[in-house]
Amino acid sequence: MSEATGTSPVVMVTGAAGNLGSAVVRELAANGTRLVCVEHNSEALEKLADSLPESSEILLIGGMDLADLTSCQEAVEKTLARFGRLDALANTVGGFQTGPVDETGVHQWDQLFHMNARTAYAISAAVLKPMQQAGYGRIVHVAAAPGLKAGANQAAYAASKGAVIRLTEAIAAENRDKRITANCILPGTIDTPQNRSAMPNAKTNSWVQPTDIAKLIGFLISPAGGIVTGAAIPATGRI
Ligand SMILES: NC(=O)c1ccc[n+]([C@@H]2O[C@H](COP(=O)([O-])OP(=O)(O)OC[C@H]3O[C@@H](n4cnc5c(N)ncnc54)[C@H](OP(=O)(O)O)[C@@H]3O)[C@@H](O)[C@H]2O)c1
Repeated sequence: MSEATGTSPVVMVTGAAGNLGSAVVRELAANGTRLVCVEHNSEALEKLADSLPESSEILLIGGMDLADLTSCQEAVEKTLARFGRLDALANTVGGFQTGPVDETGVHQWDQLFHMNARTAYAISAAVLKPMQQAGYGRIVHVAAAPGLKAGANQAAYAASKGAVIRLTEAIAAENRDKRITANCILPGTIDTPQNRSAMPNAKTNSWVQPTDIAKLIGFLISPAGGIVTGAAIPATGRI
């Protein structure tokens, strides 16, 4: 329930049709949360919406590049027009590429900063305004452990996820007295079809289930999650 009015909260999930995003959408839809599902791929979004309980209240925003600030602001405007409020953001957009610094070139650096860091910045900037006006909000980004310390072949990925962690800390500090929290999650390898096909011989029993990360996100965006802010939380264990 939303703290302010007792009605269902409104949560924006970005990357909503992705592996983690769709798990977050299903987890929240099952709790009666009103959802704003944001995605690149409109077709994948429609398919996801068709698989949800009929009673779900959902606004679909497809064909959107989250790295574009104007598009993010428009998505927030559509959210407010439909639901009149925006309680939380669960941002799962991001991507992964590897390679040694002397071989990959600056293109990969720019691409991963665009995909991981610029997206997180743009959507944060857009959602903060209505949250500040309401005096309540929850923001969760998805970073990764290399954002704390890079390994070989991870320069661009690690630096771009490090940027997400620093962004999260700054948002938390700027909004500490406004009842708005910002946290990010550092998942271990997520059990996805793509990872299974890329690493066919891996021991998958240490991988993290998207549904378990979705539950953690569910707590962080709840009113009770207000006790946690500015954190980079490892999600590497098992339920
Ligand atoms: N998978 C892992 O093992 C792992 C480990 C640690 C951290 N993470 C992080 O966890 C998050 C979720 O991972 P995942 O495996 O669920 O990824 P995923 O399945 O690729 O989902 C990401 C979704 O975001 C969309 N997207 C990408 N760029 C976008 C943009 N600029 N605007 C709008 N939508 C965009 C993608 O659409 P398109 O496919 O159409 O581009 C995709 O549907 C990511 O931030 C990832 O970096 C993943």
